Amino acid sequence: VDADGTRVFDLTMQRGTTDLGHGPDTRTWGVNGSYLGPTLRAVRGENVRVNVTNELDETSTMHWHGMHLPAAMDGGPHQPIEPGTTWSPYWTVDQPAATLWYHPHLHGSTAAHVYRGVAGMFLIDEPGTSPLPHDYGVDDIPLIVQDRKFEGDQLDDSNAIFADVGTLGDEILVNGTPRPFLDVGTETVRLRVLNASNARVYNFSFDTGMPFLVVGSDGGLLEEPQAVRSLQLSPGERAEIVVRPEAGSSHVLRSTPPELKAGFFQDRFSGGDDRLDVLELRAAPVLGSSAAIPEKLTTLPELGEPSNTRRIDLTSSTTINDREMDMSRIDEVIVAGTTELWEVTNASGTIHNFHIHDVQFEILGMTGMSPDHPSLAGRKDTVFIPPAATVRLLVPFGSHTDPAMPYMYHCHLLKHEDAGMMGQFVVV
Ligand code: C2O
Ligand code: CU
Ligand code: CU
Repeated sequence: VDADGTRVFDLTMQRGTTDLGHGPDTRTWGVNGSYLGPTLRAVRGENVRVNVTNELDETSTMHWHGMHLPAAMDGGPHQPIEPGTTWSPYWTVDQPAATLWYHPHLHGSTAAHVYRGVAGMFLIDEPGTSPLPHDYGVDDIPLIVQDRKFEGDQLDDSNAIFADVGTLGDEILVNGTPRPFLDVGTETVRLRVLNASNARVYNFSFDTGMPFLVVGSDGGLLEEPQAVRSLQLSPGERAEIVVRPEAGSSHVLRSTPPELKAGFFQDRFSGGDDRLDVLELRAAPVLGSSAAIPEKLTTLPELGEPSNTRRIDLTSSTTINDREMDMSRIDEVIVAGTTELWEVTNASGTIHNFHIHDVQFEILGMTGMSPDHPSLAGRKDTVFIPPAATVRLLVPFGSHTDPAMPYMYHCHLLKHEDAGMMGQFVVV
């Protein structure tokens, strides 16, 4: 914290080598280290500044995924950081407690930069929020889940010929660790799960069938915990879950075939048949006691009636509304402080998801899904949309206006985003 009370973070993007289970020489990128980056943490109401230095030999950017902030601080494709330079965005944290993340967003290179290892979590805390486990690294554990392939000393980001979704790895890393386990020493543990993979959709469950509670999604806490046995997350989505393993028990968090709903052929080439182990939980013979999980976690504000409706069609793996991303075209102009209804339809034959910068939306409905499905709960910034489905989003736009600097909306399957499946909006 500096003299005027601003919380300052220093991040340096750099090259290195990391042992990801294939020897010590795998060439990687990272932040303040050789693979992934530190967890940043700030409190609602705080002023923050991040000094982001690029020690790579390529231009990159750093985007704060899920953060409500001015467009010029967003770290999207319009805020390039040239090699050897430092970019220092600043803003006031003004949103509820949540699990957010950061990653590069250079147009055309996002997939490659994230795949090499540039990403990290950004946690927002809010004093007075519900007593969930919050001892970081003890009973509050970040899980950055990524699939990777290896080729010699390189991370292999090629994709199989029919894999329109992009790179699907056959090995799982959690926080950059292959074949990880977690020693559990308390009755309850909060896991903050981030799907930081380029293309893979996970359907998380435990091999023992152990139920768990979903307590948070992209934008923060759910109103009430939801008891489930499985939860699906597409790239960019987060979930906070609470597990209560019995003393002495062990459970493997794994991903079973996700419900992609794209048909036999597309499902298969999009990872729809894959089973992968993610993390083994090993509970100690005696567990420290934990506070009970409250039945009511928070009250989400009513968003009110939308003042405008927009239709967005995901028309192919390179286009939205039949257009490829154009850095010099503004696609949508939004009036500051208004709430809009966005009806987003997957009009292509393949899977996509949809992410909007700066906002946390409410999902009013999704074709073929009950409105109280746990995947639709809470406030979200990213949502999976299978072929032929329409999702209805109630989107509260913020008050940071800038007629000249756009925010992005896009498919978070990074190959699609890079290929043009992205649009730009300004808030005026
Ligand atoms: Cu996580 Cu526009 O990105
Ligand atoms: Cu984002
Ligand atoms: Cu897509």
